[in-house]
Amino acid sequence: MASIPRSMIVGTGVSIPSGILTNKDFEKMVDTSDEWIRERTGMEIRHIIEDGRYTSDLCTDAAQKALADAHLHVEEVDMILVATVTGDMGFPSTSCIAQEKLGAFNSAAMDISAACSGFIYGIALGDALIASGKNKTVLVIGAETLSRITDYTDRSTCVLFGDGAGAVVMQASDGERGVLGTYLKSDGRFGDLLRVEGLGTRYLPTHDSLDHRRHFIKMEGNKVFKEAVTSMGDAAVQILKQTQMTGDDVDLLITHQANLRIIDATAKRANIPPERVFINLEKYGNTSAASIPIALDEAIKAGRLGMDKVAMLAAFGSGFTWASAIVRF
Ligand code: ACO
Repeated sequence: MASIPRSMIVGTGVSIPSGILTNKDFEKMVDTSDEWIRERTGMEIRHIIEDGRYTSDLCTDAAQKALADAHLHVEEVDMILVATVTGDMGFPSTSCIAQEKLGAFNSAAMDISAACSGFIYGIALGDALIASGKNKTVLVIGAETLSRITDYTDRSTCVLFGDGAGAVVMQASDGERGVLGTYLKSDGRFGDLLRVEGLGTRYLPTHDSLDHRRHFIKMEGNKVFKEAVTSMGDAAVQILKQTQMTGDDVDLLITHQANLRIIDATAKRANIPPERVFINLEKYGNTSAASIPIALDEAIKAGRLGMDKVAMLAAFGSGFTWASAIVRF
């Protein structure tokens, strides 16, 4: 009996916008300090998208780099999955807009809405599409322009978020390497703790909606923090169990980059020591669905994820959603 094929990541790329906001910049905007932000989050700078550019532009740039890295032509792509909560518009999907910009006309395209867990949801879906034989070359992109929905008068959220995108190309694996397992979970009972309520059809863009600042991120940070620690830890434990691995088998843990303390707690739950944990939130802040593919690209380019190395990915975000994956490179 033929075995079910695995998928693997064959190329990565990122798009980092040129604007920069430092902790010191926030000292001039709200009642905060560089010291508070560093101590409570680990963040130092975030990148901000330029005027006149959109999430789809970041998707396109990151995807072109990932395809070049994989030595593939854009016409070979047969599925584009874009994980984002900051799409260009209500519809069409950002993936369709990016498809047009890429010229990827042999592809289908759709968006995934799972907040900060969206990229791993995309990996799980891409893996299933390839394993089932439905697709051969899948682009999974995590892209956000969170600066456009950040309330720069709210110190409890504005210091956290940044913009950027990361993309990977997935194809069938030829052996023991590739995506070894994925784990997805959500719990809609926590939806109110982290939300943007005014960008759908429940609250239309009226003066009242704008006055209530409904088109900006609202978060009960401390409650989200506690759930993030528990659920991202659970995701790490579950994927180890599913793949029959231990923390010792993991060469690099790459989590969603929301808070240094959440990352530390997840690493401890999975028994992965600090030297095998990838951290770059000091350079980008929280870029939601983009944080893991940006970190993945950096880790590979820095030589921390070569052939046969095992990476664990783990994320937690609005919904709540949480997810994990183990990939052998
Ligand atoms: N500067 C100075 N003081 C601040 C700031 C700030 N920027 N923000 C909040 N404070 C104050 C609060 O007002 C509070 O003051 P008080 O004690 O006088 O009331 C105090 O600092 C402590 O506030 P907490 O919210 O309890 O601080 P906490 O240690 O929890 O850190 C943070 C806040 C960084 C937001 C943290 O809770 C966190 O990281 N939460 C999780 C974020 C996350 O994982 N999100 C999920 C993914 S994101 C997505 O899906 C888009």
